[in-house]
Amino acid sequence: MEEGLSENETTDFCCAEKFVLSYEDADKYWSVQEPTINGMLGGFGNLSTIDIQGSEKFLIPLLKKIDAPSRQKAIDCGAGIGRITKHFLTKLFASVDMVEQCSKLTAQAEILLKGNQKVGRIFNKGLQDFEPEKELYDLIWIQWVLIYLTDEDLVSFLKRCKKALKPRGIIVVKENVTSSPDPEPDHEDSSVTRPEETLEDLFSRASLRIIKKQQQHRFPQELFKVQMYALRPDQ
Ligand SMILES: C[S@@+](CC[C@H](N)C(=O)[O-])C[C@H]1O[C@@H](n2cnc3c(N)ncnc32)[C@H](O)[C@@H]1O
Repeated sequence: MEEGLSENETTDFCCAEKFVLSYEDADKYWSVQEPTINGMLGGFGNLSTIDIQGSEKFLIPLLKKIDAPSRQKAIDCGAGIGRITKHFLTKLFASVDMVEQCSKLTAQAEILLKGNQKVGRIFNKGLQDFEPEKELYDLIWIQWVLIYLTDEDLVSFLKRCKKALKPRGIIVVKENVTSSPDPEPDHEDSSVTRPEETLEDLFSRASLRIIKKQQQHRFPQELFKVQMYALRPDQ
């Protein structure tokens, strides 16, 4: 750890600007957000349906290909209250686990998803510490959460995800990207939005190759561009 930093703070030097990401601050931020779809989407709850439709359009063709993953087991990473699990993943997979750092949100997810037989385990952990079980998942869905991880933790988490894939399994990352040349920190929620090239470089550092890439359409112009990536181990 660097001098002057508390235990939960880490720095990245992937760009010209030095910034600090704190997992503790991100957790504090999410603990006081409304545990609703609107709260999960920063006041843009009205975009949830468009987001899910974009995800379906991206994923379903991959599930029909010759080398498609099976539809047994998925995990929703940075799952919040389980918006994606409820409205998307449990409609396509027999069983869906969730992992989320904020305990207030996992508690709400337990309530909202009670009785849904397709919901499996709900892990209350930060992705930086999460060790998914080896060769368990057909799909690992990671949406709007990599912005909270340092470069180093992001790469190491993706490497663990790679080991957690079943044969023919895929990882999907759906994330905001900036059109500016440098990563853009947001001190309010302790996050960083990266340029596409930076994110793609981190995928290749985790030895993952992009098998499909598509932009989310029909989002307001003033928001960050959102990219979807399907990734597989680089053999
Ligand atoms: C913008 S919300 C998105 C929630 C969900 N993916 C969705 O699209 O509805 C970001 C989520 O990431 C979670 N999060 C932030 N940092 C995290 C970390 N280090 N590990 C796991 N989850 C984290 C937050 O608590 C919050 O639930």
